[in-house]
Order: sequence, then C-alpha cells, then structure tokens
Amino acid sequence: GSGKFFVGGNWKCNGTKDSISKLVTDLNGAKLEDDVDVVVAPPFVYIDQVKNSLTDRVEISGQNSWVGKGGAFTGEISAEQLVDIGCKWVILGHSERRHVIGEDDEFTGKKAAYALGQNLKVIACIGEKLEERESGKTFDVCFRQLKAFADYVTSWENVVIAYEPVWAIGTGKVASPQQAQEVHAAVRDWLQKTLSAEIASATRIIYGGSVNGSNCAELAKQEDIDGFLVGGASLKIMVLLLVLQGP
Ligand code: G3H
Repeated sequence: GSGKFFVGGNWKCNGTKDSISKLVTDLNGAKLEDDVDVVVAPPFVYIDQVKNSLTDRVEISGQNSWVGKGGAFTGEISAEQLVDIGCKWVILGHSERRHVIGEDDEFTGKKAAYALGQNLKVIACIGEKLEERESGKTFDVCFRQLKAFADYVTSWENVVIAYEPVWAIGTGKVASPQQAQEVHAAVRDWLQKTLSAEIASATRIIYGGSVNGSNCAELAKQEDIDGFLVGGASLKIMVLLLVLQGP
C-alpha cells in the first residue's frame, strides 16, 4: 500500500441540521487512530455548520466543484468557495455525477485540474458499471477514466484515486477483496506505465462501494487498498468507527 490509510465519509445528499449535528458530536467524541486520514464530505449547505463544530482532526471535502472560476453558473459551487469555507478536499467524478447527472470524462478531468490549482486535494473517482464488468471492460473503463484525469492533472501529489465499481455502490454488493485488489493493482500498474514509478508508489488508491464494519477488515488487508470512500455506512458513526479500525 501507499501512504497513510485514508477513510472518507461521503454523506451524499443526506442529512438535516439535526442529524448532522449528532454525527459531528459523535465524530468529535470518537478516538481516531493517528495513522489514518479521516475526511467527511457533507452536502454543500451543511459544510459551514460542520466546519464550525467538527474537530480539526477530521478534514472536510466538497462532493463536487465547478470546472472553473466562479461566475454566472447558477446552482454551481466553485473550488475557490470550497477553500474559502474551509474545505481541504473535493470528490470529483463520483459515479453519481457521471451516470446520474451525466458528467463526462473530459469535464471531470478539467474539474480536477482546476480544483488542484486552487489548492484543494482531489478524490478522483473511477469505476465500471455492471454491464461493463460483465463484458470484460472493467480495465478499459477504469483506464479511460484515469487517462482523462491524467490529460489535465500535472501533479498527482494531492490526488487520491477512489475505485468505486458502480454495481457495488449503495447496493450492499461489496466487491470481494480479490476483485477490488485486482483492479487496484491494475490501476497502480497503469500509473507506473503511464506516469511514473514514483507516482504509482506514492498515490493512494482507495475502495468504495458498500464498505461496512463487517467487510472492511478483509478489504484493508489487500496490498493495494490504501483506504475507503464510505457512503451509507458513514452516516452511522458506529459503523464508520469499525471501518476506521480496518487497517
Ligand atoms: O462515495 C461513496 C460510494 O459511492 C459508496 O457508497 O458505501 O453507500 O455504497 P456506499
């Protein structure tokens, strides 16, 4: 594995002022291991609330950002605004952005370059759909999505790659440790061949898709799994804490 183990909680479009206040209180009271980076991604409208109440031990991520400088883009949130409000990270290319909202590879790559330029760290998501896996296209899809990031990103220092097979997201159908490890190893190999050995060994590759307290330990043992991006389970503090004990 590479670097510090990384656990991100992506709250997606969930929560209320009350439920988020409860989650923050629980996170503040939790004993978090020193050797794990912990990041949470609240919905935009609650970031300020979270920033003002959450311990600095846990960093905050946006769930998306606009592709360039802010301006007349109704409904969008710029990378500059995320920095201004105290975010250190942004999730880009999440499968829900790609497949529900329709953002493409190039747009996503440009977003990553812009966010990095504003000093945000990027959680760059990739992953195949079920029919792509079943037709043997898993690596093709992941490499194509990686290439689109690589076409725009010049420094990989502040990038974490999240492999999230679409069929495993929110379905309870977690990838087996072997299935995940196979793709993580292929991603690392791609980084080595396409970018450099240094980037391949330094870049964290995290797994997302139905991670929970019962399956995280086996996944974390895999050589190329450097952390998790957790959706549903990150809304339940007890489950998140189990995931944090994974490595
Ligand atoms: O960003 C998180 C992933 O989409 C995983 O979501 O843990 O609810 O399957 P999930």
